[in-house]
Amino acid sequence: MNYRIALIKGDGIGPEIVNETVKVIDKVGKKFGHTFEYVDVLMGGCATDAAGKSYPDGTAELCRSCDAVLLGAVGGPQWGSDKPAEQRPETALLAIRKDLKLYANLRPAALRPALISACPLKRETAEEGIDLLVVRELTGGIYFGKRDKYQTEDRGIEATDLMAYSEMEIERIGRRAFEMARLRRKKVSSVDKANVLETSRLWRSVMHRLAAEYSDVQYEDVLVDNCAMQLVRDPGQFDVVVTENMFGDILSDEASMITGSIGLLPSASMGNDAPALYEPIHGSAPDIAGQDKANPIATILSAAMMFRYSFNLPAEADAIEAAVDKALADGWRTADIAEPGEHTIGTMKMGEIIQENI
Ligand code: IPM
Ligand code: MG
Repeated sequence: MNYRIALIKGDGIGPEIVNETVKVIDKVGKKFGHTFEYVDVLMGGCATDAAGKSYPDGTAELCRSCDAVLLGAVGGPQWGSDKPAEQRPETALLAIRKDLKLYANLRPAALRPALISACPLKRETAEEGIDLLVVRELTGGIYFGKRDKYQTEDRGIEATDLMAYSEMEIERIGRRAFEMARLRRKKVSSVDKANVLETSRLWRSVMHRLAAEYSDVQYEDVLVDNCAMQLVRDPGQFDVVVTENMFGDILSDEASMITGSIGLLPSASMGNDAPALYEPIHGSAPDIAGQDKANPIATILSAAMMFRYSFNLPAEADAIEAAVDKALADGWRTADIAEPGEHTIGTMKMGEIIQENI
């Protein structure tokens, strides 16, 4: 088969980590008999510099002409929150999620066996293992609600961001979570703030309806503050964690940290129709950009998710994951995952080793 992949290399370390990932994808193609066609898509701060806006016209259409989208990272201090919205990279990220209707964001956080010592939690907690999947709602809630900023008479300027959720939006992300749980350890923890928020009470009632339907899956409600605490106290209790957009943003960063390196974690964002979008969880790390220091593993593992979910090629996905695990087991480390004093390698060398392991 021939697959067409949109590449959004983006800013900072984005181009370096995507370049290594492309080499790994091509190696998989050679081994398993697939060919790939790459379409470069300009988006993010680099697009602002080249074309005046971070999300140039036609970006979504170009992505829709492909089977999947692979994104490196976008963002950087030179396109900060003082800049107009159309110049900010984050605007592009939200726009592409909305335009491609990528409502389900899957963020697996697993402690890889070779890296138990990188886990910042107590040794005995780490040894119990961490293998959870955050299913974050990605196109609704406070990220996309009406915003306002206005002058009041006696309290200075006031600003508002509206959090809205419909039953339709909650049900479709809930179904995703239950379906994913069926492929894993069959447990769903639904995270909300139902003791305060009306959106959360609606969220909870829809989830309860689904829990009755998916009676083979164990279900629990967890308040978001408690979830933040449980993630550092006993993360092994979680299998699938499903939650709304902003809670998911915050909890997925926490979940990534407890696995030792944000440089290792992939993600997938999908809707009901192709293409889905795959990207590392980490950002563009402008401080180390262009220095061959970035860890390409999160992007390479994102490509594994692409094979699994967009191309329905699980053996190819397994081959990539095994190649990464072998590189780590053999002791190869980029600086972000090294112990003090340990020998480290750069982005390109790590990419090369993983290609050889395929
Ligand atoms: C993420 C990021 C984005 C988000 C930002 C960059 C807009 O933090 O993908 O988690 O908040 O969704
Ligand atoms: Mg985030």
